[in-house]
Amino acid sequence: VLVVLSLGGCSSRARDMEQVSKEERIVIRFSHVVAESTPKGRAAKRFALLVNERTNGRVEVQVYPNSRLYKDGEEFKALLEGNVQLIAPATAKLTEWFPEWALFDLPFLFESYEEVHRAMDGEIGRRLSDLLLKRNMMALAMWDNGFKQVSANRPLLWPQDFASLTFRIMPSKVLEAQFAQLGAKTVAMPFNEVYSALESGMVDGAENPPSNMLTKKFYEVQSHLTISNHGYLGYVVLTNRQFWESLPEDIRKVLEDTLREVTQWEREIAAQENEKDLELIKKSGKIQVHYLTEEQKKAWKEALQPVYRQMEEFIGKDLIEMARKL
Ligand code: LMR
Repeated sequence: VLVVLSLGGCSSRARDMEQVSKEERIVIRFSHVVAESTPKGRAAKRFALLVNERTNGRVEVQVYPNSRLYKDGEEFKALLEGNVQLIAPATAKLTEWFPEWALFDLPFLFESYEEVHRAMDGEIGRRLSDLLLKRNMMALAMWDNGFKQVSANRPLLWPQDFASLTFRIMPSKVLEAQFAQLGAKTVAMPFNEVYSALESGMVDGAENPPSNMLTKKFYEVQSHLTISNHGYLGYVVLTNRQFWESLPEDIRKVLEDTLREVTQWEREIAAQENEKDLELIKKSGKIQVHYLTEEQKKAWKEALQPVYRQMEEFIGKDLIEMARKL
């Protein structure tokens, strides 16, 4: 029997249910928007494989990559309605409901993956995760992609090079403010629409780590890429709280242990993947790659500094201060 556990799966006849559920297969649908060969895509597949092995097939994790099942903006609703049980959106995509999560979008906040992990795994991560419970969502893990680079059809070396260009962003006030501070406009749109928006010239540029730029071929429709590491892109693996709590305890433990292990692995491969993918982008010969000089980087940091004050109230001053001390 194939049963998709959905919201409200626990009836009053809990004992009977447990009896039944011991024999039932549990299908967990995991939807995400990126390619299978990205760090997130690979981790989702690895999680599915390990869970299948470790539960002897009782739990089947079905992974739907590339916005095949749901795109940005649809995923949350699908999760809350029980049509999908796991999603792993970029943190920026939570900020419409949970502004505090925009912390991760602040330009030049993190210098290294280690700092990011201290935020994710410490008090900051706990506080941010607790907020989600109010809306019946539960953060199970936090995954890396990496540091964002920025592309356009002109070299972006100094802050003034952004003037009057339009950039695609994820929906986040911080990202809007970041580009506004550089004199650029922004359009928020789902990830699956970025390639055609760049190709048609609807937007002039975009930001993402190399793994997303390579796998979605953004480098084919942009002529200049700046290695700026100006911001960080990471994910939160989310489930529906009610669904998660309705799982048999032994099953939930296997899932949580496996997720912990896969998280470790995902974080190990993410940095390497992005380095490798940047080399592949360079090798394509289709885009000119620029590295910022120290002086240019300093000018970017100075130009973007006001974003912190502008977003203080939105994100919360104390969170920003905690992150700055990491
Ligand atoms: C984007 O929308 O640019 C990224 O967040 C996509 C992703 O999930 O990595």
